Amino acid sequence: MKEQQERLTLALETSCDETSAAVIRGGREILSNVISSQILLHRKYGGVVPEIASRKHIEHVLPVVDEALKEAGATLQDIDVLGVTYGPGLVGALLVGVATAKALSFAMDKPLVGVHHLEGHIFANFLAHADLEPPFMALVVSGGHTSLIHVRSYSELILLGQTRDDAAGEAFDKVARVMGLPYPGGPHIDELARKGRADAIAFPRALSGNQQLEFSFSGLKSAVLNYLNSVKQKGESYVPADVAASFQQAVVDILGEKTLLAMQTLKLDKLVLAGGVAANSGLRQHLQNLCQQHGWELLYPPPVLCTDNAAMIACRAHYQYACGGPLADLHLNAVPSLPLGTVE
Ligand code: KG4
Ligand code: ZN
Repeated sequence: MKEQQERLTLALETSCDETSAAVIRGGREILSNVISSQILLHRKYGGVVPEIASRKHIEHVLPVVDEALKEAGATLQDIDVLGVTYGPGLVGALLVGVATAKALSFAMDKPLVGVHHLEGHIFANFLAHADLEPPFMALVVSGGHTSLIHVRSYSELILLGQTRDDAAGEAFDKVARVMGLPYPGGPHIDELARKGRADAIAFPRALSGNQQLEFSFSGLKSAVLNYLNSVKQKGESYVPADVAASFQQAVVDILGEKTLLAMQTLKLDKLVLAGGVAANSGLRQHLQNLCQQHGWELLYPPPVLCTDNAAMIACRAHYQYACGGPLADLHLNAVPSLPLGTVE
């Protein structure tokens, strides 16, 4: 086996609607990160259709692996470690990646590591920031999750709290859908919110003002739907940009409040953002202000590493392997609701 800095990791990501394969060197250098997105296909249904996602992953997975190897100037023989997302996600979609990775591992006799999708999102930051080292706080905000995680070391990820119901991204997508915006709605709300007044409508901030590191977004989503319905019933019109800005502000305020509480409780001075919603400009601005006030460092990945991609999975796989994490064998299965790290 090569030295750790020279080690090549090939990883696959198929947990939702992106088929992705990537090759990285030494844990932090991206040689290729090929992403085949199905977003346009699912857009006409207003969200991801699991059965269609699985079928498309089957069609795309091998060409995407070939492309990733070609772009990296590597062959399968050059690869030292394989990584694959095995949860959480859509079971049929995950299974395509898992079966492919197991077949490659068996055929090439290479070690295989099963990766937690959200841990991958956090590790995207190691690819984006060469000097980043644990410990730090991670706020993971994606279409399926909203979690605060204390990254104590490369192998200790402690789940401090998460959402009780909808994820932040899910709320963005549902609100966008009722406003007639395309899927995925997050970026469209973000765009619209720039032109609106964040204080135009008083939407609720659930679980605000208590000491719990938990989130809840389903009430906020219903409040927006109720607002839109009541305006329509009265035959009045509404200002879409104001709804977008007021909704986004409610999400951002509560994410900021709980992140502040977690950072202060654990006395950390580095905050790392991860997941698709980490691309939100309002959230970034709010957390930037918060971090500046407290003298903390705020880090987030570039947009391509915020949304689903295999490079982040390769990074997590590299460190799991380097830390002597358990290797997967041919029994590795997809786990749609795989829990994250340790809960203390
Ligand atoms: O991490 P991700 O690619 O997939 C999951 O693992 O869920 O996140 C996708 C989510 C979607 O809900 C999408 O609407 C949201 O991230 N998103 C955004 C923005 N860009 C993507 N939400 C708010 N503002 C954005 N700029
Ligand atoms: Zn994701």
